[in-house]
Amino acid sequence: MRTLVTGGAGFIGATLLQRLLSAGERVTVLDDLSSAEADWDAAWCAELLDGRLRFVCGDVTDLATVIGVVAGHDSVVHLAANTDIPGGYDDPQLDLHGCIHGTWNVAEAMRRHGVRRLLYASSGVVYGAPLRIPTDESYGPIVPESHYAAAKLAGESILSGFAHLYGWRVLAFRFGNTIGPRSNHGVVHDFVVKLLRDGTRLEIMGDGRQAKPYIDVEDLVDGVLHADRVATDSPFAVYNVATPGTLTVSRLADVIADALGLDAAGIEMVFSGTARGGGGWVGDTPLVDLDAGALRALGWEPRLNATQAVRRAAGGIRDRLLASGTPLRTTAERRSESRVATAT
Ligand SMILES: NC(=O)c1ccc[n+]([C@@H]2O[C@H](COP(=O)([O-])OP(=O)(O)OC[C@H]3O[C@@H](n4cnc5c(N)ncnc54)[C@H](O)[C@@H]3O)[C@@H](O)[C@H]2O)c1
Repeated sequence: MRTLVTGGAGFIGATLLQRLLSAGERVTVLDDLSSAEADWDAAWCAELLDGRLRFVCGDVTDLATVIGVVAGHDSVVHLAANTDIPGGYDDPQLDLHGCIHGTWNVAEAMRRHGVRRLLYASSGVVYGAPLRIPTDESYGPIVPESHYAAAKLAGESILSGFAHLYGWRVLAFRFGNTIGPRSNHGVVHDFVVKLLRDGTRLEIMGDGRQAKPYIDVEDLVDGVLHADRVATDSPFAVYNVATPGTLTVSRLADVIADALGLDAAGIEMVFSGTARGGGGWVGDTPLVDLDAGALRALGWEPRLNATQAVRRAAGGIRDRLLASGTPLRTTAERRSESRVATAT
């Protein structure tokens, strides 16, 4: 078996690669390193380039590149995407290219090479503001509320079309907020950064009531690989992957403060107020509550609940940031710096 993992140098990709390689699989990573771990190619390749891991630095939005890389693989895990959701508000092309064109290219390259199995990273935000909470996969109509959500759903549709037409097996996974010690973006990472900079004051986007499920990345990868092994669905199926229930952002701040050894009661929480749509920023989905009953029915259970997952992530992110000695920057700060660097 040789598996192609697009976006394999990213946060979720790192854990997935470890699993696939330790199971003896041969893996190719296609990643343009646009939002990957800064140390990916140095540390990971040195450790793992033993012939079972091949790394191709390339862009999934370039069809010729993807066609060249897909040859010789039995299956694909498609993680590459624009993951800068607020960035897509300012520049909708990010989601059009990174999510929609990228997914189309991967599917088209598979068609040309006769590859028939794919696992797709979708998102729980595709549901928008559903009327049924918690929301299971049968819910509809689905009304996405951001370019990112729309593009993720478009990716599902594209893959469903290819799967039905060419007799593939595609599983699409709607992930809840995924976190872990190596999180390099998102709210848990950013709260850790802010609290390390100033443990007395925390600026919070929104009103603190936005509520999401948080899942440990190890549990998420378990769920994806478990479904891949046991699901009999064909040609196309969707699975939510999440812990039960939600944590509000205010509760999240308390759990993170506690995990960092701070007294949450002594921290001034400064809320920015809700943006249009009710989230912390325009395009934020204020309530995501996923029913992962279909995946549980296949025999999967997350080992950590949301609070445990947040605690493990916060401690690990702190340790990693402090050990790296790199400047403490939030996701938005890092991405705006990299946009300025690209423009100059
Ligand atoms: N982390 C979460 O909470 C979460 C939740 C729902 C869905 N997802 C989805 O899971 C997948 C992985 O997310 P992640 O958290 O690991 O994000 P990430 O940003 O850490 O990883 C994405 C990887 O894709 C690469 N990439 C981006 N655009 C590319 C392109 N055009 N060509 C090649 N490579 C490209 C990046 O360099 C990065 O290594 C994404 O599709 C994301 O939308 C993540």
